[in-house]
Amino acid sequence: MRIGVLGSGDVAKVLAAGFLKHGHEVRLGTRTPSKLVEWAASKGAIAVGSFAEAAQFGDVIVLAVKGTAALEALRLAGENNISFKTVIDATNPIAEEPPVNGVLKFFSSLDESLMERLQKAFPAAHFVKAFSSVGNACMVNPQFQGGKPTMFICGNDDSAKTAVRGVLDQFGWETADMGKAEAARAIEPLCMLWCIPGFLRNDWVHAFKLLK
Ligand SMILES: NC(=O)c1ccc[n+]([C@@H]2O[C@H](COP(=O)([O-])OP(=O)(O)OC[C@H]3O[C@@H](n4cnc5c(N)ncnc54)[C@H](OP(=O)(O)O)[C@@H]3O)[C@@H](O)[C@H]2O)c1
Repeated sequence: MRIGVLGSGDVAKVLAAGFLKHGHEVRLGTRTPSKLVEWAASKGAIAVGSFAEAAQFGDVIVLAVKGTAALEALRLAGENNISFKTVIDATNPIAEEPPVNGVLKFFSSLDESLMERLQKAFPAAHFVKAFSSVGNACMVNPQFQGGKPTMFICGNDDSAKTAVRGVLDQFGWETADMGKAEAARAIEPLCMLWCIPGFLRNDWVHAFKLLK
C-alpha cells in the first residue's frame, strides 16, 4: 500500500519504518521537512514532504501528531486528500497540564473522544483508532513473553477497519474491534492507564491483552 504518515515525532517515525519494513511505500508529512533530512537518509526509501503531500500520496493515512494539533494538521493535510481514505488515528487527547501522580490529563471528555471530533470535522474520512494505547517502542512486532498483545480499534467504516486489521496482523498484533467511533471514548483513556507504570516506576515496556 501507499502510506502517508502525518507527523515527525517518535510515533510517526516508528510506524513509517514499520510500514517500510513490511513492504509498503511510505511518505511522511511535517510542517518542517528539513528537520528530517538525516533521519530520512538513514531509512533510505522514505520521502519527506508537507502534510498535504504525504496525505495526497497515501491510500492509507496515519495520523501521528500531538493531540492538541490534530485538527490543524488534518486541515493542513487537506480535506480532499483524506476523504474516502482510511485514517489510522494514533493520537491521544493529552492536555498541556502535567500528569497528577502519574495520571495524564486529557482535554476530551468521557462523552466525546478526540477521534469523534476529528470524524465530525472530516466526515468523509474513514478514521480508525489504533496504536494509541501502546508506547512507540512496542508498536511494530513487539515480543512479549505473554504472547501477542491486543490492539483495540474502532471506527465507523468496516472496510477501513478491515484494512487496519491487515496492518495489525503484519505488525504482530491481535485486533479487538470495539465498534463505532464512540468506542474511542473508552480506547483513548487506555493511554492514561498504559503510561502510569512509566511515570511511577519508569516501566514503559508492556501492552494490553484481552483474555477470553
Ligand atoms: N509517544 C508515544 O509513544 C505515543 C504512543 C501512542 C500514541 N501517541 C500519540 O501519538 C501522537 C504523536 O506522538 P509523538 O510522541 O510521536 O509526537 P508529538 O510530540 O506528540 O507530536 C509531534 C507532531 O505534532 C505536530 N504538531 C505539533 N504542533 C502542531 C501544530 N500547531 N500544527 C500542526 N502540527 C503540529 C508536529 O508537527 P511538525 O512535524 O510539523 O513539527 C509533529 O509532527 C500523539 O497524539 C500521542 O499522544 C504517542
